[in-house]
Order: sequence, then structure tokens, then C-alpha cells
Amino acid sequence: MTSLRLGVNIDHVATVRNARGEGYPDPVRAAEMALAAGADGITAHLREDRRHISDGDIDQLAVICRRRGRPLNFECAVTPEMEAIALAHRPHAACLVPERREERTTEGGLDVAGGHNTIAPVVRRLADAGIRVSCFIDPDLRQVAASRDVGAQVVELHTGAYCEAVRHRSPQADDLLAALKAAAAEAHRLGLEVHAGHGIDYETVKPIAAIPELMELNIGHFLIGEAIFIGLGPAIQRMRALMDEARAVRAA
Ligand code: PXP
Repeated sequence: MTSLRLGVNIDHVATVRNARGEGYPDPVRAAEMALAAGADGITAHLREDRRHISDGDIDQLAVICRRRGRPLNFECAVTPEMEAIALAHRPHAACLVPERREERTTEGGLDVAGGHNTIAPVVRRLADAGIRVSCFIDPDLRQVAASRDVGAQVVELHTGAYCEAVRHRSPQADDLLAALKAAAAEAHRLGLEVHAGHGIDYETVKPIAAIPELMELNIGHFLIGEAIFIGLGPAIQRMRALMDEARAVRAA
């Protein structure tokens, strides 16, 4: 089975910084620590309302990721402004996400099937600039096929509903995990690289990491929260170890 990369989302370091309007804690420093602790790449979401990551953060993150030869995964809404920023920086990857200002976080996947005509040209322009384009979608076979049709190379499957069901001990958790497995298998069959993320913690990471088609997990909120108690490096190392354990069990 292929190895599973860990992208660490450092948005919530910026959320804490912005709560005080000061320059600390610094998400760029968190990114440096995450890479030193074993993260394979850095993920950051520049929201249209700039509620956490700022344009200046993206400038600096692009520099440090390039200097260290590690991928920057730029999460953004499908808007002309975000497309221009992505094209200016040419990050390794751009993950297209839906965005509503009133939401607390990215609440659902991108409706690629319903937005083909808007999304396809953006994917083409980003891909022409050498950026790997990913669509953040719910684990829905129609959205998987639509992502392939708009020309994305990657899909990131939204794990939020599954993770929430596990946390609330909902009986739907098994079905939601089955949906993630089916979507991952279908995306792989269509030639897409498969990533997953949202809401993952120490408990949910193992069943998710065991899905063999997955190549990358993007994890943020839980790690930044856990960092308060045990430090960012140890939190990332523990997550990495759980991912590796899940893969080792699959391989055995
Ligand atoms: N992937 C995408 C596309 C996201 O929007 C987010 C949240 O910003 C994540 C992964 C990470 O989710 P979490 O912070 O819940 O781990």
C-alpha cells in the first residue's frame, strides 16, 4: 500500500492570533514546527473574510514551503480573487472549497456536479499554471465523477460527517465510513488521487487512514487544540504514528 502523507492545517493558530489583533501566535512559526515534527506539507485556507489566515501569511508560507521543498496546499473558494492569488503564488496544490461567510468552518463539500461551468475553467487555468487542483467534496459518487469531469487531478473527501458521527456515538457512523470507502475506491478507479480531511482526531484517524486508496490526510483543528496540552510537535508525531499503525495493520 502507498504511504499516507500528513498535511497540517495551521489556520487556527491564526484564529488565536487574530482574536487579540497581535502578531502572535504566528502561524508561519507553527508551519515550521509542523514540518520539523514530521508533517509532509502545510495546508492553509485563505478565506474571503480573512478571519484567520492573511494574505501576508500566504506570502510567507509559500516562501518557507518552497525553501524546504515541501508542498503548500492552498485551500480557497472558487472566486476570481482567490484564483488570482493562487496564480500569483503557484503553490504545489490548490484545494477548491465551498465558502459561506456565516459558516464556522467548511460545512459541506463543493457542489462540483452543480457548478461544472464555473469550476471547470478555473481548474484548467490553475492546472495550466502547474498547480495540482483538488476538489473538496462529500463522499458522493456523483461528485467524484463530476470532479474528474472538470479536470481535477485530486479529490479531497470531506470526513466531517463521519468524524462527527463517531464523536456523538451515532449509529450512522458505519454507513458514513462505508460511503468514504466507496468514494475513495471510485475516485481511484477514475484515476484521481484521493485525499481526505475535516474533523479528524486521534480516534477517527485510524479507520480513515486504513482506506487503502488515500494518499493524504489534511488535519488542523484537533492538532492545534491538542497542541495546547502536549505541544504541536508531539501532537503531530502522535497523529503520524496512528496513521502509520493503521497502514501497518492493513498491510499485515
Ligand atoms: N480539508 C479542508 C478542505 C478543510 O476545509 C479543512 C478545514 O479548514 C481541513 C481539511 C481540516 O479540517 P480540521 O481543521 O477539522 O482538521
